[in-house]
Amino acid sequence: MTKILVTGAAGQIGSELTLALRKIYGQENVIAADHKKSPHPRLMEGPFITVDVTDRTQLEKAVHEYKITEIYHLAAILSARGEQNPELAWRVNVEGLYNVLEVARLTGIQKIFWPSSIAVFGPKTPRENTPQDTILSPTTMYGITKVTGELLCEYYHRRYGLDIRGLRFPGIISSETPPGGGTTDYAVEIFYAAVRGEPYTCFVRADTVLPMMYMPDCLKATLTLMQADSSRLRYRIYNVTALSFSAEELAREIQKRVPGFRVEYKPDFRQCIADSWPRTIDDSPAREDWGWKPDYDLPKMVDAMLTALRKRKERGEL
Ligand code: SER
Repeated sequence: MTKILVTGAAGQIGSELTLALRKIYGQENVIAADHKKSPHPRLMEGPFITVDVTDRTQLEKAVHEYKITEIYHLAAILSARGEQNPELAWRVNVEGLYNVLEVARLTGIQKIFWPSSIAVFGPKTPRENTPQDTILSPTTMYGITKVTGELLCEYYHRRYGLDIRGLRFPGIISSETPPGGGTTDYAVEIFYAAVRGEPYTCFVRADTVLPMMYMPDCLKATLTLMQADSSRLRYRIYNVTALSFSAEELAREIQKRVPGFRVEYKPDFRQCIADSWPRTIDDSPAREDWGWKPDYDLPKMVDAMLTALRKRKERGEL
């Protein structure tokens, strides 16, 4: 029987992935864990526990108590917050992952999902069609923790046979739980402003292009990779992407649907992080090995985001 622990379950990806996993594996078989004590009420419809991933004993206790067989380890500090507090980013992202891997090794857990990021790349990496195998020389602490994490995952797979799978996610755009402390957050914040009828001040330049993905594609990529036949996987951690657009192209696409929506651009320290990341990603190994294909292009994603956020506004949630 599959029993899943999701760390960082109250975060941007966790809050939606937990619900998707519960649909597949059953409400009681997916344990949501987060360091926050009061997450979204929908998460509380199934088991919810408080876990700090930097404390190995808390992880061990959760794994024993719920007889966990798989871990989706999502707890992390994102790029911008990581620059403000590099020590915290190291502790949560590297020590947290190390704790998960050790607990998995010692308790016989076989399968782990762990998200990496486009932040593993850096200024020396080709910025267009960034290949799967390329230079990893990040300049942010977040990127350094993700490269370290990739190497740790490969080590635990090679040395102990753990089936660890991961994705180098681009910026994730979603309507349920906002991201916190990332560089790609503008691509989410801009929708909240548009739906609230407020102008938006974007913290990167208008011509900033980054790879992005809408949440349903993020969930699809995660679930498809985790269900893929392991003999077909040439890599543990795959490049994935869905779309790439500039901040201005996104603003224009929203303005077509929200006339009069005003956006101005005031780049801050996050511009430098954005400039160090790829503009477009080559994800052909993911497409070849496990059939990756995104469903959302820019117009479809913008339509879906505005519809979802307008519904939340009608319910009084925004
Ligand atoms: N979205 C993340 C960030 O901006 C990238 O992994 O930090």
